[in-house]
Amino acid sequence: MQKPLIALGIETSCDETSVALVNSNKEILSHLVHSQIKDHKIYGGVVPEVAARAHLSLLPSLLRQVFKEANIVPEEVDIISATTGPGLIGGVVVGTMAAKAMAASLDKPFIAVNHLEGHALTARLTDDAPFPFVLLLVSGGHCQIMLVENVGKYKTLGSTLDDAVGECFDKVARMLGLPYPGGPEIEKQALKGNPKAFSFPKPMLGQKHLNFSFSGLKTAVRQTIQSLQAVHGEALPPDVFADICASFQDTVACVLYERVQQTLSWVSANNPNYQCFVVAGGVAANKHIRVALQKVCDDFNFIFYAPPLRLCTDNGAMIAWAGLERFQVGLRDSLDIKPRPRWTLEEIKGAI
Ligand code: KG4
Ligand code: ZN
Repeated sequence: MQKPLIALGIETSCDETSVALVNSNKEILSHLVHSQIKDHKIYGGVVPEVAARAHLSLLPSLLRQVFKEANIVPEEVDIISATTGPGLIGGVVVGTMAAKAMAASLDKPFIAVNHLEGHALTARLTDDAPFPFVLLLVSGGHCQIMLVENVGKYKTLGSTLDDAVGECFDKVARMLGLPYPGGPEIEKQALKGNPKAFSFPKPMLGQKHLNFSFSGLKTAVRQTIQSLQAVHGEALPPDVFADICASFQDTVACVLYERVQQTLSWVSANNPNYQCFVVAGGVAANKHIRVALQKVCDDFNFIFYAPPLRLCTDNGAMIAWAGLERFQVGLRDSLDIKPRPRWTLEEIKGAI
């Protein structure tokens, strides 16, 4: 039997410093995720300069540890991959340069991974999702519905016109005085609340296109909080607080449900070879949203794929896996490649 290929993946595009070793048999040999949340907490969001410095100081020891835990030496790795964008440029530079230096000194191929492709392909690592699939990518910086034909072959059907979904969760959490990142905090509070207590607007509902908009929802939640505070005082009663979280989360789930319903209806009529649906990105960790998306997939006879919760948010395993996928279809990158703060999925090189 042929020996599986081993990839090292480095992720440093936001506030997680993460490294992983993954092989082509879909085994995660070792995986370390260091969240910088406590470094950024006092600022209420991620500070790019603080993040870049933290990646710089954390990476060397995480790299040593990831090899130790997998019980392999760097020479045994077949490819070195790193997030080369999109993301906070300081962090992306740190991870890319570390990967390039290792690739050069070990004389191994370097694969520049688009962070969004890392998210998009995770369900192939964890759940064997087959190509082609419809992708809903919902993270702190992105909200897109796409057709994914193969490695590097993406077509956008719709995207957000303003805030990303995760960003909206984070901003609503901030209005409520909840810590960053807001998504998991709102989800926790929502468990205690009534999702139908408040009726928030569902932007763009019933429109023909597949784009999203969340700024109106965010404003409506802010106005509701302010008028409730005028009655109850700054600190809202716990049940009201939980009701806002539950109603906001349910509104987001309804908007995503509607958009995916519209997408799957269109795809079924126009691209009948698409029968799988993948949700990816940090917001895909939200159980209420997962249930809503599972339901719409069931209605349209689509197979629903969602990565395990811990691999929905940023991680190095998805970068190692995307590197392996790209390598296996013949893609390689030169050490001259530049880190990119912006880099859409449609701009990346695809399977040859
Ligand atoms: O994919 P990710 O880790 O980073 C980006 O590439 O942006 O996504 C982070 C985003 C944050 O906005 C966070 O609040 C959101 O994902 N998030 C969630 C949940 N877990 C993380 N949103 C809703 N519910 C969750 N359980
Ligand atoms: Zn991400």
